[in-house]
Amino acid sequence: MSAIELDTPAVQAARQPMVTASTLPPAWYTDQDIYDEIVEDVFRHSWIPLAHVSQLAKPSTYVALDLIGEPLVVTRDRGGDIHVLSNVCRHRWATIAEGSGEAKALQCPYHLWTYGLDGRLAGAPLMTEVEFDKSTCSLPEYRHEIWNGFIFMTFDETIEPLSPQLVELESIVKNWRLSELVVSSAVSETANWSWNVMVDNWAENYHVKSVHPESLEMMTPASLTAPIENHGEPWCYARLGHTSDYQETIEAAISTLDEEQRTYSAVGTIFPFFCFFTFPDMAAWLQVKPTKNVGELNLELMLFVEPEVMSDPDIDAIVAEQMDFARGIFVEDAEMCRRAFAGLHSADAASSRLSHLELSVWQAQNWLLDMIESRRHQD
Ligand code: FES
Ligand SMILES: [Fe+2]
Repeated sequence: MSAIELDTPAVQAARQPMVTASTLPPAWYTDQDIYDEIVEDVFRHSWIPLAHVSQLAKPSTYVALDLIGEPLVVTRDRGGDIHVLSNVCRHRWATIAEGSGEAKALQCPYHLWTYGLDGRLAGAPLMTEVEFDKSTCSLPEYRHEIWNGFIFMTFDETIEPLSPQLVELESIVKNWRLSELVVSSAVSETANWSWNVMVDNWAENYHVKSVHPESLEMMTPASLTAPIENHGEPWCYARLGHTSDYQETIEAAISTLDEEQRTYSAVGTIFPFFCFFTFPDMAAWLQVKPTKNVGELNLELMLFVEPEVMSDPDIDAIVAEQMDFARGIFVEDAEMCRRAFAGLHSADAASSRLSHLELSVWQAQNWLLDMIESRRHQD
């Protein structure tokens, strides 16, 4: 029997138009069985963000990461091609690469089987006394797509490519040149709350006045938030108007932005969990890395600037200040996510209502329900 029931009054209430809709029931945020079904029916058939091309700027580089219990490694091979590979050795299952860096090959530390960055098994010591065909032991390679410099993968060979699903979003963000920006700094965090507590928090600006009164509220106040319709595309996006004080501090906006684009920031998500933010002079990506457990996430907060900024003589100070600012906001958000996840476990927690500033939450829950319904029609 399925843990997810779509015909209940509570789920139907989440399906109502925004002005009358409720949130999904608390169990959708906390229940391991529901989460397992979301992983199988949604995440495994979605586009999952893994890395930005600037993390693999040179040939012979890799980034390893775990997502939904799958060890993965993204590589750029000697010829410059990107691959998304299983990071599990084809011998006796040890994970191969860790972290990120430069490497001519991926060598498993257990018995030293060595793979090319395209996943082909190149060498396997002392395997000469048994019948053994190296060509049958390549690392599985997954389908990937690069959107605005972000490398997404999917476990599903049949789903629609990502870019055609993001036509409107592409037209909105294209002047930020996200593919040409570079990671200026990054910080890893672990979190003990669910993926959807995190994504809901990221994408709505309703909490900014109360949770970030000294930082974001002074820059992009809740009252100047304008969430937009997505016309059925799999994302949410809100324009965040600037206070005049903040506007005056913006010195070097991204050079390709037009006059109007220098006057707002924006927050958005490509569903299920690609969380991004744009300021006129930088961008941020909160990389959400769900594990197999509903209450456990790995996070990587990355900041992006134009490449020219990296040669500024004051770059260390600029980056330190930006990261200080971003971390401060993250700490404030983390406290609220922790509290929400605790409250969601109460026997008295119930579906609730949403402000118009939480359109993103409504769009995310309806996308999730659409995904589950369409998977069921296919099965
Ligand atoms: S498990 Fe990788 S070489 Fe044996
Ligand atoms: Fe926040």
